[in-house]
Amino acid sequence: MLNKNIVLIGFSGCGKTTIGRRLARIRGMEFADTDVILEAEAGMPITKIFENFGEDYFRGLETETIKKTASAGGRVIATGGGCVKNEKNMRLLADNGVIVYLKCSASKIFENVKHDTTRPLLNTDDKLKRIEEMLEQRRELYEKYAQLTVDISDDGLWDAVKKADAAVALHFHE
Ligand code: S3P
Repeated sequence: MLNKNIVLIGFSGCGKTTIGRRLARIRGMEFADTDVILEAEAGMPITKIFENFGEDYFRGLETETIKKTASAGGRVIATGGGCVKNEKNMRLLADNGVIVYLKCSASKIFENVKHDTTRPLLNTDDKLKRIEEMLEQRRELYEKYAQLTVDISDDGLWDAVKKADAAVALHFHE
C-alpha cells in the first residue's frame, strides 16, 4: 500500500468525492474528504459557514483541516474545489502526497451539480455561466499544482476511477 497520499484536486462537482471513495476502496487506502471533516468539526454545513461567517473564515478552516488530514499518509484525499486558491494548502498536500487533477468540462460539471444547493459559490441564477467563469479563473491554478492530470470529461464513474488509478500506478512505477 502507498504510504503517500493521493490528493484529488479539481473544480467543484467534478467527482472528487465519488471517485476518491472508490479509488481508496480498490487500493485498500483510507478515504478522507476535507469538506466533510471540516463540516463535522465546525458542526454546521458549508452553506451555513459561508452564510454566518463568510468565505475568508471558511478558507481558514479549510487550511486547518488540510493540515491535519495531510499529516498522515496512506490516504486518498478529496479536497474542496477552491483549495488551490491558497498556496499553503498545496504545499501541505504536496509534502506528503501526489496531486492528481481531475480535469472536467464545464458542461459535465453542470450536469453533476445542476440540482445541488450545497455549494454556496455556485448558487446563482445562471449556474452554467458561473461554472464557466470560475473554471476559467482557476484552470491555471489546477494546472500549476497538478503532478498528474486525468481528463474525465467523457468518462463514467468507473472509467474515471480506473484512469486515476492507472495514472497513480504509472507515477509510482507500481
Ligand atoms: C468550493 C468548493 C466546495 C467547498 C466550498 C468551496 C470552491 O467543495 O469546499 O463550497 O471554492 O470551489 P467541492 O469541490 O467538493 O464542491
